[in-house]
Amino acid sequence: MNQHEETLVFFYPLANIVIRFFVIMHIIHHIVLGKLMHILEIKDLEALARKKVPKMFFDYNNSGSWTERTYKDNMHDFQKIKFRQRVAVDMSNRNLKTKMIGEDVEMPVAIAPTGLTGMQHADGEILAAQAAEEFGIPFTLSTLSVCSIEAVAKKTSRPFWFQLYVMRDKKFMARLIDRAKAANCSALVLTLDLQILGQRHIDVRNGLSTPPKFNLKHIYQVLSKPMWCLKMLKTKNHFFGNVVGHVDGVSDVRSLTAWIGEQFDPSLDWNEVDWIRKRWGGKLIIKGILDPEDALLAARTGADAIIVSNHGGRQLDGASSTISILPEIVAEAGDQIEIHMDGGIRSGQDVAKAMCLGAKGTYIGRSFIYGLGAMGKAGVSKTLEIIKKELDMTMALCGRRDIHELNEDNIYKTKETGVSL
Ligand code: GLV
Repeated sequence: MNQHEETLVFFYPLANIVIRFFVIMHIIHHIVLGKLMHILEIKDLEALARKKVPKMFFDYNNSGSWTERTYKDNMHDFQKIKFRQRVAVDMSNRNLKTKMIGEDVEMPVAIAPTGLTGMQHADGEILAAQAAEEFGIPFTLSTLSVCSIEAVAKKTSRPFWFQLYVMRDKKFMARLIDRAKAANCSALVLTLDLQILGQRHIDVRNGLSTPPKFNLKHIYQVLSKPMWCLKMLKTKNHFFGNVVGHVDGVSDVRSLTAWIGEQFDPSLDWNEVDWIRKRWGGKLIIKGILDPEDALLAARTGADAIIVSNHGGRQLDGASSTISILPEIVAEAGDQIEIHMDGGIRSGQDVAKAMCLGAKGTYIGRSFIYGLGAMGKAGVSKTLEIIKKELDMTMALCGRRDIHELNEDNIYKTKETGVSL
């Protein structure tokens, strides 16, 4: 044996033992962490997800465009709103059940469409859809999901909602609409605020851009989360499931992400919305409205609802937070169309505030993603339980017994600030 071979003989078993030791310690650490940690609020799930999800994917969810002002304002502006505490009001027999676009919901919260959810946790979209179904709220699947429409439909029984991006490849888009119909989706959520993709600096820094740039740093980020890796190895859902196999010439990750990057249609206008509405023929929700004039235009299309949204602060940085603009949009268009909102919701208190200011439903994106990254399906259920409990207690302490009774009177107003921010 020469010296080189001797070194290898010594090194390999040692490396093997060291790697096994770290993997086992890591697994024990996570099991103990998950079991011992008191998960009481969404922040706890965020902290746990940060430890469990590879950094580039955690960051993808946890960021906004450019300075991230709007992304942060979505959350901070909720804090500026104060409730009126009422006492000696009968708080027994409370009800949070309501309807969103005519569908029964356990509480006025739906799961928002989020891209790459299956990278937060293996089979992420399927697990989140199942948790939503068990809880009794709608799940919205993103066009840019990892698990396909068909894969989610196969593993769920409550019809889910499908979010559509307007794409340049009209044949592909028409097929997507038909696939959503065939999967029995009960609403199409049409996103209008992503005709071009906003720049999120952190994604560029992490190499999570189009096409992606993979290097040693990514391999380290992935391997340092062995539980995440083990679960990923067990599933076939790794890429954009709605696209793979449905577009010619797109076979690997690079060509796939490059194709998607080119597909957002900058020429989208209201005529196209009309074409999509007719092609779909079912319930339509228009997502990405942040201006009262656009709310009126959306109402004119005959859609069933709008979502007041700035894409979670991921598109036009410097735009208003959603909760601050909600009252104006409700005042302008609330009698013409059902109004939902998303952006910045991290608690049931935030949901209550949105309801007080006129929303008929809300959506959670990052909040459920934290739960998913932290604990898979159980984490999404935990997110929903936390939000429900907070919403219920807040409503009660505001002196209301029914979710439909929450209104502007439950918000503390001064002459100076009024309701809106
Ligand atoms: C896609 O919807 C994104 O915001 O990344």
